[in-house]
Amino acid sequence: MSLPPLGSQRMEPNPAETSIPFEIHKAGWRDVRALRRLEEVCFDLDAWPVVDLLGVLTLPGIVRLKALMENELVGFVAGDVRPREHLGWITTIGVLPQYRRMGIANQLLDLCEAGMGQPKVRLCVRKSNVGAIRLYAQRGYQHVAVWNHYYNGGEDALVLEKHMDAIS
Ligand SMILES: CC(C)(COP(=O)(O)OP(=O)(O)OC[C@H]1O[C@@H](n2cnc3c(N)ncnc32)[C@H](O)[C@@H]1OP(=O)(O)O)[C@@H](O)C(=O)NCCC(=O)NCCS
Repeated sequence: MSLPPLGSQRMEPNPAETSIPFEIHKAGWRDVRALRRLEEVCFDLDAWPVVDLLGVLTLPGIVRLKALMENELVGFVAGDVRPREHLGWITTIGVLPQYRRMGIANQLLDLCEAGMGQPKVRLCVRKSNVGAIRLYAQRGYQHVAVWNHYYNGGEDALVLEKHMDAIS
């Protein structure tokens, strides 16, 4: 797939994947308040503290993208670029409930995976998160490990990996 370069310009979603007008832009520290709200709604027990949110919005070596609808932040993804390991890690992705199943996560992942520019991408997900696991499986992620009792409450994490060169 040919993707537009990451930048501050407007990035149009693929009309085949969605009929709603959302835009994807780079995120920055000014998004911290909106990101905190999204985290609390999307992740509950797993929501990151503000200091971590500021880190993900400002530290170098991170691809951070927000989905906007009518200037409201409705989705966010971050990817940690680890060139020495030839690896990108998707560290968080969330979409507000009222904007789900519209292709926003797929678009965020397309751009984040491309923006990290690494041959392998990994992420972890709660074992019970069937919706997210289905999304990742459809995108070519495969199960490579289990981290026992990784999450708050003791649930296991599945570690998933995607080889970018295996995807047409
Ligand atoms: C997981 C999440 C990011 C998906 O966002 P989204 O914008 O709704 O995803 P998309 O619309 O791009 O979904 C693409 C496909 O993934 C699959 N999918 C996504 N959510 C699903 C769900 N809840 N149940 C089943 N399949 C799902 C579907 O195949 C979907 O295509 P379809 O709608 O045509 O059937 C969103 O549900 C979310 O924010 N959840 C809470 C936070 C979270 O769990 N993040 C992941 C942590 S690892």
